[in-house]
Amino acid sequence: MDNLFDIKGHVVVITGGTGVLGREIGAYLARQGAKVVLLGRNEEVGARLADDIVRQGHEAIFLKTDVMDVAQVEKNLDEVLADYGRVDALLNAAGGNMPGATIAPTGTFFDLKVEEFERVLNVNLTGTVIPTQVFLRPMVEAGRGAIVNFSSMAAFRPMTRVCGYAAAKAGISNFTAFLANEVATKFTPKIRVNAIAPGFFLTNQNRALLTNPDGSLTPRGEDVIRQTPFKRFGRPEELCGTIHYLISEASAFVTGTVAVVDGGFNAFAM
Ligand SMILES: NC(=O)c1ccc[n+]([C@@H]2O[C@H](COP(=O)([O-])OP(=O)(O)OC[C@H]3O[C@@H](n4cnc5c(N)ncnc54)[C@H](O)[C@@H]3O)[C@@H](O)[C@H]2O)c1
Repeated sequence: MDNLFDIKGHVVVITGGTGVLGREIGAYLARQGAKVVLLGRNEEVGARLADDIVRQGHEAIFLKTDVMDVAQVEKNLDEVLADYGRVDALLNAAGGNMPGATIAPTGTFFDLKVEEFERVLNVNLTGTVIPTQVFLRPMVEAGRGAIVNFSSMAAFRPMTRVCGYAAAKAGISNFTAFLANEVATKFTPKIRVNAIAPGFFLTNQNRALLTNPDGSLTPRGEDVIRQTPFKRFGRPEELCGTIHYLISEASAFVTGTVAVVDGGFNAFAM
């Protein structure tokens, strides 16, 4: 094959497709010729994002979902198959940290509410497992496909205050390796499962942790920049190349990995 990165006509399903990272990746993949399915909770935002892509001459649809609702995700699959007849890739980008599951700067572990811990664990981890179980099926039937899960720096090193989020993301890295083995050995090595671990990108789920209302950095935000050799947060478009690689033939022998895109944060020691 001449162009290992060719994804023209590939059907790419993105959970969290209306999120800050998901929407940027979706628009980029559509520009590469993919048929993009944005799955999200906000119909108004999702329809507008899909329209924007279509108006620019590319292909996309929006479908309302809740990644915790198996019946709803199965309905989404039926609609994708009715429209496009296949699923080439799934990006599990729904999730994020939640304010209720974050321990306050002056708090301790005893202040953690177990229900909130469960909620953040469920949305991130089970909310990755459910769409994977649903959208993997047509990939197994077709004998090919790619899945990319969204892990985090918090999976490598548990960060202060966000223990539920960190546990969930560590679980996602672990699940990624499990599933890579499972599908390669029980179905086909032509279905690959990898994860991306973004460093720090300012989005709705972390803005209040990293920045003050006037846009200046919180002490935690300053700490992140101090430990990032590039001395800045990431830009959502900087995830697109790695995602493109992981869903294309360019990564044909790559499975079970976690690709770090972090401006050097994970390599920093002192
Ligand atoms: N922003 C970062 O710095 C960063 C770093 C590492 C990992 N991530 C991960 O990247 C992914 C995308 O996050 P983002 O930064 O774009 O944040 P975001 O908050 O903009 O997007 C997350 C999306 O997930 C959706 N979502 C949440 N619960 C859902 C549910 N039950 N059903 C369907 N959708 C649901 C939200 O509606 C939202 O659109 C998340 O998994 C996040 O944990 C982000």
